[in-house]
Amino acid sequence: MSILVCGGAGYIGAHTVYKLIEAGESVIIVDNLQTGHRKAINPAAKFYEGDIRNSTTLEKIFTENKIEAVIHFAANSLVGESVQNPLKYFNNNVYGMQILLEAMEKFGADKIVFSSTAATYGEPEKIPILETDKTAPTNPYGESKLIMEKMIKWIKNLRYVSLRYFNAAGALESGEIGEDHHPETHLIPLILQVPLGKRDHITIFGEDYPTPDGTCIRDYIHVLDLADAHILALNYLRAGGNSDIFNLGNGKGFSVKEIISSAEKVVGKKIKTEIGARRAGDPAQLIASSDKARKILHWTPQFADVEKIIETAWTWHKNNPNGYED
Ligand code: UFG
Repeated sequence: MSILVCGGAGYIGAHTVYKLIEAGESVIIVDNLQTGHRKAINPAAKFYEGDIRNSTTLEKIFTENKIEAVIHFAANSLVGESVQNPLKYFNNNVYGMQILLEAMEKFGADKIVFSSTAATYGEPEKIPILETDKTAPTNPYGESKLIMEKMIKWIKNLRYVSLRYFNAAGALESGEIGEDHHPETHLIPLILQVPLGKRDHITIFGEDYPTPDGTCIRDYIHVLDLADAHILALNYLRAGGNSDIFNLGNGKGFSVKEIISSAEKVVGKKIKTEIGARRAGDPAQLIASSDKARKILHWTPQFADVEKIIETAWTWHKNNPNGYED
């Protein structure tokens, strides 16, 4: 029996595939390479280049392989882009989920681990955020993920775990795989472009938030800790666990300025900054309570130290200043 990883050539997908293979699982990847990278595909996995919105592609995969469970990463995930082009998000994310669920139902695959997001909460009413808190997305990306979570819930004979990630960061420590988005919008890779000479400075989006140093606070979680959580979730479902939703974060917040000074320590250089305007839709603080994942999934993040997280990102970016180049 195999695990089908939808979006296994993407950032979090590729790191999870790495961990699945390490754990001795048989892995099938489907990815349309729209944002994923051919070079990020683990050679030990069987790869199908295709789109999950294409039922013929999925039926071929489910016919040619015995799929025990699905781990679903295949989605668009840029907040800003989703505001500009909401229908792209409803088509790829929501409609993609429908076609995937139809195939799973048809072929009797009864377990799914789903890649969800803190963006399902919107502007939090209190910190840290609990899974039982109100979900009120402030952008189409978060809305699409919330709809996807709700769709899964109604499918008979399907058990699920939805994992709501906070700010994924870092890379495999060897620097073989890492983060490579086009365009890059995430804070840590953009900061590291400055010491790489690819960017003159990092712009801090707003210095007038109601936080101690005026910049936004986020909960950064290492991509390998996220990967581990997917494997724990899979085993939880295998052991008969009930369908459920879990936050994944370190439970500690760092401001934009704190992340920049940690990056300066890691790279051993001063990083030039400029203060810019606030970015629309950025909440002042997002910090997870991950107590539930710790208690029920027995998840223990290994990278609690933000400098260590940035160090792994730096190894990847230094070795691959232009990303995968594929
Ligand atoms: N930031 C800057 N300058 C930059 C880039 C980012 O100051 O050049 C700031 C942002 O304003 C934010 C923080 O750095 O305060 C982190 O920004 P990211 O873009 O790295 O991450 P987000 O918190 O915006 O987004 C993350 C995930 C999304 C998810 C969202 C939940 O990447 O997928 O959290 O709100 F939807």
